[in-house]
Amino acid sequence: MAWALTPLTEAQREIQHLAQDFAEHEIAPYSAQWDRDAYFEPSLVEKLGALGFLGMLIPEEYDGLGLDTLTYLVALEEIARADASAAVMISVHNSLPTQMILKWGSADQKERYLRPMARGEMLGAFALSEPEAGSDAASLTTQAVRDGNDWILNGTKAWVSSGTKGDVILAMARTDTPDDRRGARGISAFIVTPDLPGFSVGKKEDKMGLRASPTVQIHFSDMRVPGDRLLGAVGSGFIYAMQSLDNGRLGIAAQAVGISEAALRLAAAYAAERKQFGHPIKEFQAIQFKLADMAMRVAAARALLHAAATAKDRGERITQFSSMAKLLASEAAMAVTTQAIQIFGGYGYVKDYPVERLFRDAKVTQIYEGTSEIQRIVIARELYSKR
Ligand code: CAA
Repeated sequence: MAWALTPLTEAQREIQHLAQDFAEHEIAPYSAQWDRDAYFEPSLVEKLGALGFLGMLIPEEYDGLGLDTLTYLVALEEIARADASAAVMISVHNSLPTQMILKWGSADQKERYLRPMARGEMLGAFALSEPEAGSDAASLTTQAVRDGNDWILNGTKAWVSSGTKGDVILAMARTDTPDDRRGARGISAFIVTPDLPGFSVGKKEDKMGLRASPTVQIHFSDMRVPGDRLLGAVGSGFIYAMQSLDNGRLGIAAQAVGISEAALRLAAAYAAERKQFGHPIKEFQAIQFKLADMAMRVAAARALLHAAATAKDRGERITQFSSMAKLLASEAAMAVTTQAIQIFGGYGYVKDYPVERLFRDAKVTQIYEGTSEIQRIVIARELYSKR
């Protein structure tokens, strides 16, 4: 039984119920099949757009819902309970590309991209990582070279979520030169669309989990990008990406809490039904102790996430808080889904029940948007930060 750790307002509860209802009717009945087929359902984007869920953090003046962070994350948790793949698509879109355009985009970029993204007419993706640049994101090598008003981009981006459908991809590329390398300050952000000559989608990853979320490589081959697609200032792209990941990591934490909550509920229900040695297994302390630890982990992860969300809504700097929330929630998701499988026993190990999918989906939350090790580095560094 989940309870409201942070008292929600009437308006927040309304959005939560809307997400719950949508997830229950439009997502949950299909998630097992989508996972089996590694299938991304395109109509989801349209339906989520109609609800306003692709513009949750975008102000109403740009056709978004203009919600606060807590409401957004509560809604995201509900979607993740039904399907973590749908949740990551919503999280990336709402937390990364749309927020980057909102914060650093020109008036024209907001009209051309942010408004249709808020309505769900364009789906956003985020391209920072490369085959050789993961945790060390600033070592990326995709190069952008000025050509008149345009930029010519060459390179390969990796692990791009929603990359096959991505209509608006925020791509980070080097704008420094081989003679004048500037590290993290030599990277700029570009608004890339698949219609640009030289853009192509490469390998689609065959993943352990999150199979209904397409993850691809994207190639830029002498791709000509008009000058008005540069986001903000030259050389600031890495900083924009890092600041946006402060928000993105809250979304992944909400996804992890949703996965954990789903696993806890399934395990508790199964333990009440399943009889061994003449008793429902929930009567055995071995099972009770597992359920108790699972419930505690979910509550702790949710509490930290909500605290971070409200800090963000108060306008505080949340770099450390968001890494803590993501770290705790993703470690909790792995522990909780592992124990859920243990409670289900053999039935947890087969695809007839959803817990094995939850376990596979949970794993990536310890990896993407910064591994658990990177989150620890950020948390430790922030102890000494003067910012
Ligand atoms: N907010 C604002 N500025 C920040 C910042 C933040 N959170 N973090 C770093 N910066 C700034 C620093 O202040 C510094 O600026 P100055 O030049 O003014 O000093 C600059 O960025 C460089 O920072 P660092 O020196 O700390 O950079 P670093 O190379 O040591 O890397 C890191 C730091 C934290 C390890 C970073 O590389 C990182 O987060 N790595 C993980 C990458 C990651 O999370 N990738 C996610 C991929 S996207 C994804 O998974 C999405 C998806 O599709 C699901």
